[in-house]
Amino acid sequence: MTVEIRKMNLKILKSKFLPVDKVILENKNILELEKDFKNSIIDIKKNDEIISEEKKQVEVIHEEKKSEKRFWRIKKKEDVIHEEKKQVEVIHEEKKSEKRFWRIKKKEEMISEIKKKKIKSSEIKEEKIIDVKKKEETNIPNFMTIAKVEWDNNEIHAGIIKDPTAKGGFRYKVIEPVLSEKEEKTFEMIKKLLMTELSVSMGEIKTKKEAEYKLKKKIHSMIKKYRLRIPPKNIEKINYFAVRDFIYLGKIEPLMRDNMIEEISCDGTNVPIYVWHRENESMPTNIIFEKEAELNNFVRKMAYICGKHVSASSPILDASLPGGSRVNLTLGREITKRGSTFTIRRFKADPITVIDLIKYGTMSVDIAAFMWYLIEKRTTMLVAGGTASGKTTALNALASFIRPGQKVVSIEDTQELNLPHENWIPAVSRQSFSDKQVGEINQFDLLRAALRQRPDIIIVGETRGQEAYTLFQAMATGHGGFSSIHADSIEATLTRLTSAPMEVPRALISNSLDLIMLQLKIRLGEKSVRRVIQVAEIEGLDKQTGEIKTHTLFQWNPIEDKHEFMGKSIVFKKIKERDGETDEKFAYELTKRRLALEWMVKNNIRDYRDVSNNVMEYYADPERYYERKRLEM
Ligand SMILES: Nc1ncnc2c1ncn2[C@@H]1O[C@H](COP(=O)(O)OP(=O)(O)OP(=O)(O)O)[C@@H](O)[C@H]1O
Ligand SMILES: [Mg+2]
Repeated sequence: MTVEIRKMNLKILKSKFLPVDKVILENKNILELEKDFKNSIIDIKKNDEIISEEKKQVEVIHEEKKSEKRFWRIKKKEDVIHEEKKQVEVIHEEKKSEKRFWRIKKKEEMISEIKKKKIKSSEIKEEKIIDVKKKEETNIPNFMTIAKVEWDNNEIHAGIIKDPTAKGGFRYKVIEPVLSEKEEKTFEMIKKLLMTELSVSMGEIKTKKEAEYKLKKKIHSMIKKYRLRIPPKNIEKINYFAVRDFIYLGKIEPLMRDNMIEEISCDGTNVPIYVWHRENESMPTNIIFEKEAELNNFVRKMAYICGKHVSASSPILDASLPGGSRVNLTLGREITKRGSTFTIRRFKADPITVIDLIKYGTMSVDIAAFMWYLIEKRTTMLVAGGTASGKTTALNALASFIRPGQKVVSIEDTQELNLPHENWIPAVSRQSFSDKQVGEINQFDLLRAALRQRPDIIIVGETRGQEAYTLFQAMATGHGGFSSIHADSIEATLTRLTSAPMEVPRALISNSLDLIMLQLKIRLGEKSVRRVIQVAEIEGLDKQTGEIKTHTLFQWNPIEDKHEFMGKSIVFKKIKERDGETDEKFAYELTKRRLALEWMVKNNIRDYRDVSNNVMEYYADPERYYERKRLEM
């Protein structure tokens, strides 16, 4: 069957298309073509393989290139990081060297300052202008360098630095721990928590140390309770700021701890707090109240600590801080245009004694001996002078001459006097809290009460109002009396006494007052010093003019910085007439006291307790004391 079909096909082919031989030829061609085709397919396959191989290679190259690119990107990044690292290191190094530079600079400054001081003191010695020992006002080391402030575990430093941006070229700098922004936030939170949680009754706490301990304990328990994550180092810092702000006087507390600071004053917001330094005088500090609310709160807090109150309706306050420092406050902008203000007269825990006054050159041994004798004889006197001239200090120092056992009543608006006497009533006036002056007890009320207490000596801290008349009346009736008065000359003192609001009659003054000691704060060379300028006795009334006549007994000579005795004493004449003393006795009494004072100066007996003990010893047996000390001189 298949043969048949084939034959048929061949027939058809033959009949229809080509001759057989041609077909055979064609067949042959087809076979060759097939072969070629097969070959070409093989070639194509081979080509494909080559192409795929190449593709693969290209891909590999591509991959390689990609990874190379990545590599370079990474490398570039690494280079940038390296560069940045380098820069950071450079900055770090620079900062380090800058710090080192400032440390070295500070040291250099300290050395040059010390050198300068040495040169200065040797110059003064050589020129013999003024006795240096006399000019030396305190024996407390000077603070030209930064010194450590007494404060538990914390490194608090304070002192004077040279600062060209400060007025006068010096600044008083307080260096405290620094809180980072985060620490500040934590502290603020702890502060708020303390305000809500602290419920310790003030009566329970006896001392500040105890309060400190309790506060720290509370902070510790709060950190635990609220699971606050604070590193121990930072807890110390937070404790410092909490104790500083809650128990002490906040920002200004480090200033309160430097005995060389006499006065601290804040004139308002955004003005540096100023201090009056015993050696370097007035200078700004690095402490500033920037926010009005902060300063207002601080002033209110200070009033509260003093047990008083300031408000918009009574924005002025004179008060004493618990440590004895005197403070004057004003609240708000209504009366003080730069904002709330405060002035603190720092209490000197170690009071200035009469021996200090002699050493400083404020008064001479002769003046002190004369005053001693007059005080023993219960004379009456006023210490006159300007603001901060040392009137209260002089009054306090001279009061140590009061014979032990005599009854003393002192009257003040804020307590500053501190007497060594047992038989002493310190009375302090009370301000009214209301506008109608209900509950107010002023110096006048206290003075009237004091007279009923039959004192031997009345001391009125500062005479300025209607109490003056009563004081002079008391002095006219045989009471010893001392007071201070704000005036800068003897004449001005008498004018103030005789005009409003005191209005003491001239006749009463001449009958009751024995002398006026004028003390001023003056400039001597480059320094500000306090000097008794004049001791004037009240001689009586001028019959023609009706004016009060005075007699100068001691006068300060500014050229030699010496006190000169000007001649016979009128007060002594009065004592002679009253007590029947003789000139010889008077001279002898002065000699004994002069020697006692000189002995104390020589032996540096300057502490108020020691001075007072010596005065007591003297009163116990003047002759024996005199003989003993004379042998020791
Ligand atoms: N002779 C002195 N030498 C050095 N410093 C003194 C002397 N007398 C007083 N001071 C200091 O001067 C400051 C002012 O003294 P004090 O309070 O006695 O003056 P004041 O005249 O009573 O002042 P106010 O006018 O304010 O009442 C105090 O810090 C005191 O320590
Ligand atoms: Mg005073």
